[in-house]
Amino acid sequence: MKSLFYSRFFILLPWVLIVIIMIDVDTKRSSVRDTAHFYLSRLGSAPRRARTAPAGRNRTAPPVVYAVTPTYSRAVQKAELTRLANTFRQVPHFHWIVVEDAGGRTELVSRFLARCGLAHTHLHVLTPRRFKRTGMPRATEQRNAALGWIRQHRSPRDRGVVFFADDDNTYSLELFEEMRSTQRVAVWPVGLVGGRRYERPLVEKGKVVGWYTGWRADRPFAIDMAGFAVNLQVILSNPRAVFKRRGAKPGMQESDFLKQITKVEDLEPKAHNCTRVLVWHTRTEKVNLGNEPKRHQDSVHIEV
Ligand SMILES: *[C@@H]1O[C@H](CO)[C@@H](O)[C@H](O)[C@H]1NC(C)=O
Ligand SMILES: *[C@@H]1O[C@H](CO)[C@@H](O)[C@H](O)[C@H]1NC(C)=O
Repeated sequence: MKSLFYSRFFILLPWVLIVIIMIDVDTKRSSVRDTAHFYLSRLGSAPRRARTAPAGRNRTAPPVVYAVTPTYSRAVQKAELTRLANTFRQVPHFHWIVVEDAGGRTELVSRFLARCGLAHTHLHVLTPRRFKRTGMPRATEQRNAALGWIRQHRSPRDRGVVFFADDDNTYSLELFEEMRSTQRVAVWPVGLVGGRRYERPLVEKGKVVGWYTGWRADRPFAIDMAGFAVNLQVILSNPRAVFKRRGAKPGMQESDFLKQITKVEDLEPKAHNCTRVLVWHTRTEKVNLGNEPKRHQDSVHIEV
């Protein structure tokens, strides 16, 4: 009995190994495909609308605020985007760059943007599967796709400020007027973040001298994604500054990015020398879909 088991085992073993090797080769190939797709989709992400001279070339008008919002499909996506659009519609000279984590533009987001009443650019790039793990920084590819679009479609003649506006935050309208005057890189406090009521840059005599934060104060720029804005010309004159995947840790993305374009002593403190909170991390509560039927039961299709 035992010897029968062993002989079967040794007959099967090589086949099992061959199958394992084939699966491995296949996933490696598909990750190469993912990467190729990533770069190709970036090339294909030019806006569909041919634009006339972008707002922001007019020297007498204020600089345009470019808000970069990475987004991905989930139950609360449309609700979050609606909340954001309702804020952004009240901001003059504004351009929304929405970047989907998807293999193509989804119908939901396309329809939403077409009706949102905002100047916008709709991009998409799929996060390669190997980066979709907990402990990996998120939205890196999407933010970089937005930076790529800005560098391709804006020139030294354009005046603007780039801000990374995640779709789960709450923004005061005052924040946009604070950031609009950014000469190089501006910073300000962020509420409800890092396990604290707020985090903020510490300012002395109008200069940033340190960070009030509950987490890794040793980061060169201990700041949240929602806590800074960058002048458009700084983005253009540092063409290689991107959010990094290689060696990046979650929570270090902001610091790694800012290191490439500025120094702490050059930061411009906004919001009354960083004493006022004008943006909050307000994640929506995880929705309960416990009663959602497995198979579609309603007689009509409802987009949520
Ligand atoms: C430039 O902006 C100013 C103020 O917003 C406006 O009055 C003017 O008509 C604009 N000029 C052009 C050429 O668009
Ligand atoms: C910020 O601090 C500087 C230097 O102390 C001061 O001159 C300036 O008026 C302050 N700004 C605001 C808005 O409080």
